[in-house]
Amino acid sequence: MSLASAWAREDLDALSARGLRRYLEPLDSPQGPVVRVGGETLVNFSSNDYLGLAGSPSVRAAAIAALERYGTGTGASRLVVGDTTAHHRLEARLAAFERAEAVLLFNSGYAANTGIVPALVGPGDAVFSDALNHASLVDGCRLSRARVVVYPHADVEALTRALADTPARRKLVVTDTVFSMDGDVAPLREIVEACEAHGAALMVDEAHATGVLGARGAGLCEELGLEARVDLRMGTLSKALGGMGAYVATSRAVADLLVSRARPFVFSTALPAALCAAAEAAVDVVEGDPDLRARLWRNIRRFAAGLRELGLHAEARSAVFPVILGEPGRALDAARRLREAGVLVKAIRPPTVPEGTSRLRFCLSAAHTVGHVDLALDALRRVGVHHG
Ligand SMILES: Cc1ncc(COP(=O)(O)O)c(C=O)c1O
Repeated sequence: MSLASAWAREDLDALSARGLRRYLEPLDSPQGPVVRVGGETLVNFSSNDYLGLAGSPSVRAAAIAALERYGTGTGASRLVVGDTTAHHRLEARLAAFERAEAVLLFNSGYAANTGIVPALVGPGDAVFSDALNHASLVDGCRLSRARVVVYPHADVEALTRALADTPARRKLVVTDTVFSMDGDVAPLREIVEACEAHGAALMVDEAHATGVLGARGAGLCEELGLEARVDLRMGTLSKALGGMGAYVATSRAVADLLVSRARPFVFSTALPAALCAAAEAAVDVVEGDPDLRARLWRNIRRFAAGLRELGLHAEARSAVFPVILGEPGRALDAARRLREAGVLVKAIRPPTVPEGTSRLRFCLSAAHTVGHVDLALDALRRVGVHHG
C-alpha cells in the first residue's frame, strides 16, 4: 500500500467512526422534483434547483443552440482566448437584472468567493465574517491573509463593536443573505448601516436568494431596496438559475480590478458558452414568469405550516428548511427512514454545519407539486422526527 493510501485509510476510518464519512450516489435521471437513484424513484428535497430551471425546455434549448455554435470547451481563460460573445451577453443581461453598473462572471460560487475577497483585502486589512457564512466565503477570508474577525451569527451589535474596535487599513464585511444550511436571512439593513457608519465595504452572497427573493427575483438586496448600498452582490447560476457558474454585481472599477486580480478568474479556463446561454435564458424566465416564484412560495408556506403542525420550528423566509437532529447518526438514520417512505433528503453533518447540529436540510422547489410537499410532511410525521 502506498504511503498516501495508508494516510487515507487512517483518516477514512476516523471519519467513519464519527459518522462523518461521505459517499457519492449517482442519479440515473435529470435533476428534478422526482429523481431515480440507486434503482429507486424518490421525491427530491435536496436540490438547490429552486425554480426547476435545470430541466426547463427554454433553458435547455438555449444551451443546445450555444453548444452547436461554440462547441464544448473554451480552450483558455477569458484573458487568453476563452472569452466569447456569450459571456458578454450574459454579463449585460445580469447587469440589467441586478440593476448594477457592472457584472463579472466566475466559474462557480466557490471560485467567486475565494477570488473576490483576496482581490480586495490583504495583510493590514480586516474582514468581518458571519459565523455561519458558507465555506467558500470562509476560505476567501483565509486566502486573503487579512485579519479575519468572525462575528456571532446575525449579531449586528457584535459586528458594530468589532468594526469600531479593530484597527485596519481597509474593512470589508462579508455575509450570506440567505444562510445556506439554516435558511434564515441576514439582518441586511442593519448591516448596511453598520458598514456605512464605520467606513466598511460590504459584500453579500445571494446564492440562495437569487431567483427566490425580491419582486423580480434578484435577491434580498432587491427585496429591501438596498442594491445601491451594497458594494458587491455575488449570485450563483447554479441554484435557482438551474445551471453552473456565478457572478458579482458591482461597480465598473471593482469588476475591472477583479479581471486583473481575482485568481480563479485569471488562472482558470472560462465557463463554457453553452452555460452562459443557459443562464441568460434562465434569467429571462425568472424575470418574465413571476408565477414560477409564486409556486415556489406556495410550497414554502405549505411546508412551513406543516412543520409547525409537527411541533418543529419553521420560518418561511427562504426555500431552505433545516430539521436539526444533533448527532450525525440521528440525521443519517432519519434520512434513511424518510427514504424508505419515498423522500430523498440528505443528512448534513459537520464540517458543513457546527458540531451537534447535524440535520436534514429540506429544499423546496417550484417544480414540487402540493402532493410532493404533503408526502414529505406525512413521512416526517410517520418517521416521528422531532427537534434536537
Ligand atoms: C451560500 C453559498 N455560497 C456559495 C456557494 C458555492 O456556489 P457553487 O456551488 O456555485 O460553487 C454555495 C453552494 O454551493 C452556497 O451555498
